[in-house]
Amino acid sequence: MLVQHSANGIRSQRRSERVPVQRPPHLIERVVAAQPINRGKHAAAVRGNRINAAPELAQRPVERRRAPTVERRIAVNVERNRQSQDPSHRADTPRRPHPIGPQSIQAPPLRLHGTGLNLNGRAMNYRHAYHAGNFADVMKHAVLCRVLTHLRGKPGAFRVIDTHAGAGVYDLGGVEAGKTLEWRDGIGRLIGAELDAPVRALLAPYLDAVAALNPSGALATYPGSPALARAWLRSQDRLIACELEPQAQAALSRGLAGDARAKAIAIDGWTALTAYVPPKERRGLVLIDPPFEQDGEFSRLVQGLAAAHRKWPTGHYLVWYPIKDPNEVAAFVRKLARSGIAKMLRVELIVASSPGETGLRGSGLIVVNPPWTLHDELEVLMPALARILCRGAASKFLYQWIAGESSR
Ligand SMILES: C[S@@+](CC[C@H](N)C(=O)[O-])C[C@H]1O[C@@H](n2cnc3c(N)ncnc32)[C@H](O)[C@@H]1O
Repeated sequence: MLVQHSANGIRSQRRSERVPVQRPPHLIERVVAAQPINRGKHAAAVRGNRINAAPELAQRPVERRRAPTVERRIAVNVERNRQSQDPSHRADTPRRPHPIGPQSIQAPPLRLHGTGLNLNGRAMNYRHAYHAGNFADVMKHAVLCRVLTHLRGKPGAFRVIDTHAGAGVYDLGGVEAGKTLEWRDGIGRLIGAELDAPVRALLAPYLDAVAALNPSGALATYPGSPALARAWLRSQDRLIACELEPQAQAALSRGLAGDARAKAIAIDGWTALTAYVPPKERRGLVLIDPPFEQDGEFSRLVQGLAAAHRKWPTGHYLVWYPIKDPNEVAAFVRKLARSGIAKMLRVELIVASSPGETGLRGSGLIVVNPPWTLHDELEVLMPALARILCRGAASKFLYQWIAGESSR
């Protein structure tokens, strides 16, 4: 199915038009009484905006249906087709921006910036402060928050292991973010966009966490993965955040200090990946988000993920990867499919404006053991994220089982 989007779908407002942030209610208020529903009903609820923020509470997959590989190309200037093709865009669902001040969406092309730091003989150039809140963070963090929502939906304790955690919180007005302004084409666009009610409901855990960090109403600070994970911890849950780059590690430690549930550890994330699984809670998520600054990182990812999965086959894993060279990504996916991991969902968003665009054209996620609701949620989320974040006609997205479910 072809889904087409208009550039008009992306709205921005001037600073003077910012609306005040409505502080999110305490997360617990979002947890409503559990209703056992089946998978088909959940999908319909997502599309009809009858979803709550913790839909997986005591819900069980009653029906397993084959989900087709979905790949959709987004083209500009076809808003007129959107409502008829995507049930989440019904005319009667009001669309409005998230109540935090939107920003201009002008931004220069993506570039990688670094420090040239050398740690134990290995180059550590990557600094996430240059890229925080960009289009890749938006997709990664939106999906991360859906998985966290799922984990919170059951009473049992869970643990999040963030193998490459970064600094935790980023100043969008800081020198690094100011040099690239990548966030403007990411969270800046999302905050300024009008969202259909079903999309808004699915993004609420993510956007509410962003809003909570920006009490003035202007978008000035962006939460990285450990800050988002921490926002979702209950008293019984735990977070281990691993970071090696000294400045980022110091910031992370400061940010998590005083919270007995969360620990920042200066350990190699690849070592942590296998050393910390399975966690004693036997429930949880491992986020693997390396900087991809060294050769062979794709192969290392497959090996590390497969080794961790052998030790903890029932854990959720969320893996981020850059999309620069389609052949490199195809080889990565083929290796993963042969890795023996039983259930894997691949999610990709290409934001490139032209087929020949070089550099970071898009980004992808591998979700191992995805929550059973996630595929249907992506059906609603991905067209919306693509519409908001795409830079032109070469943009496209997909979500596809590469092991398990319909790939069987
Ligand atoms: C892409 S950033 C992480 C972003 C973060 N996960 C988020 O979503 O907000 C990758 C981080 O990994 C750190 N890093 C690089 N090599 C590492 C290693 N071997 N072990 C742990 N952290 C590492 C980098 O310093 C950088 O902060």
